[in-house]
Amino acid sequence: MFGWRSAPIRYIDRLTSNSFEPAHAAPFDATRGTKLQLLLHARKDFLSIWREDDFRSKIDSIQLLGRKIVLVNSPEFIREVVVKRHENYQRKSPQMRRALEVLLGDGLFISDGETWKNRRALVSDIVHMNRVPSFGPIMQTTAQELVQRWETLPAGRTINVLHEMAGLTAEIIARSVFGNDLGKDRADAVTDSFTKYQSLIDSINLAYFIGFDNGLPVMKTPSLRSSVRKIHGIVDKVVEDHLAGRGDHHSMVDLLIRRRQRNPELKLDVIALRNEAATIFMAGHETTAATLTWAWYLLSRAHWVEKALHQEIDRVCGDRVPTMDDVPRLELCKAVIEETLRLYPPVPILARQNMKADRLGDIDIPAQSLILMVPWLLHRTPELFEDPHLFKPERFMNGRKPIPYSYIPFASGPRVCPGLHFGLTEAVLCLAILARNFRVVVPDGHVAIPGARLTLRPQDGLPATLERRA
Ligand code: HEM
Repeated sequence: MFGWRSAPIRYIDRLTSNSFEPAHAAPFDATRGTKLQLLLHARKDFLSIWREDDFRSKIDSIQLLGRKIVLVNSPEFIREVVVKRHENYQRKSPQMRRALEVLLGDGLFISDGETWKNRRALVSDIVHMNRVPSFGPIMQTTAQELVQRWETLPAGRTINVLHEMAGLTAEIIARSVFGNDLGKDRADAVTDSFTKYQSLIDSINLAYFIGFDNGLPVMKTPSLRSSVRKIHGIVDKVVEDHLAGRGDHHSMVDLLIRRRQRNPELKLDVIALRNEAATIFMAGHETTAATLTWAWYLLSRAHWVEKALHQEIDRVCGDRVPTMDDVPRLELCKAVIEETLRLYPPVPILARQNMKADRLGDIDIPAQSLILMVPWLLHRTPELFEDPHLFKPERFMNGRKPIPYSYIPFASGPRVCPGLHFGLTEAVLCLAILARNFRVVVPDGHVAIPGARLTLRPQDGLPATLERRA
């Protein structure tokens, strides 16, 4: 399992007239260095530590200092972990809990046990697929506003696509969670502070490996405190306004507050409301922004797919701006997003901590081990996906579907992403609205190198120019 990489990382990025293998690190082909060096490397670049042999359907383990790390990379065992033995494997890794607790407190994303059970029902109801249509107009208006802004940019101006997509999805989720009255300045302040927060937290909690079952709290540096203070300040004000009856009556915060009034047994105090609002906001925009950014990169290189996508949008929508009602008929747009999520899953690693000792296959797993399910590996496993490194949206078309539990960009089981329908619909609709008007052109020769912190994004963003479609 995993290789230690001492030489510079080599990236593969191959384009021919009808196939595209987008950027990924070449598999590591020798083992050198100690496991501790490996851990330190993974801390910097988790995606480039994998050997050819790790891209196999299997379960494997290593012992690292005081901990067993178990890599679960087969559909059968993923199902065991996330569905059948959910009770034992529901807890997030200490790294994830510690990294986010300063910001999210006991928010759904990092809670477990009773708190998670109570809040899960509440949050998933609020972002449930049945409610998604009511957020359609927000998605549509916000994407159309971006079209209008792009129309004012001078021809040939270079934009950072990641930044543009982050602004778009943050605005959509801010309007959906907090109501239309958040305002651009406060939405920007929350987004910037989230980005800052991500850059400040460590991607590995070393204390866990030397014996602290729950890791140790992250260091609250002045910069970290300052970004948290800004986010909490803004979210608290919105929650207070809603509690005082001054909020937007269709927003997710308002739904949370109404639910709190109906179900006092949930004991949702102001802090809990803030934690859940911040959780939905955080979980709901980064991921979709990363998805859209990668989709633009893939389309910009694979001209044959881009052309077919334009034809589909023109055929389905004609002269109209695409709407929510068009989404079910935008089959290729959806397949492009699904294939993007396969190649570049925004959450590239799902890490868990088992509460009790267990055995999976022939591997004994002591309590409090680290369980890694790695969509980045799983989705590129040749036994599960033909030509796994190639961009082929058609694998999601004409009723074709991946093998169950081989495709998990939204996780699976009781902890599956409750925003799955919101995120998918948003990504398809935004892609269609923007692609109807513009081609996003990434400069020839630019390799979008994947980098993973909390989410998987192109390192240093994605430069591009915009070309208006006739
Ligand atoms: C393309 C977009 C998205 C992707 C790929 C995605 C992916 C994920 C994944 C993989 C998890 C589970 C993480 C883990 O188990 O460690 C998750 C959890 C979660 N997501 Fe999403 N997500 C997306 C959009 C959204 C949206 C739009 C919302 C809200 C509107 C949302 C809300 C949440 C919440 C609240 C959780 C925690 C659920 C729990 O722990 O029970 N997500 N998401």
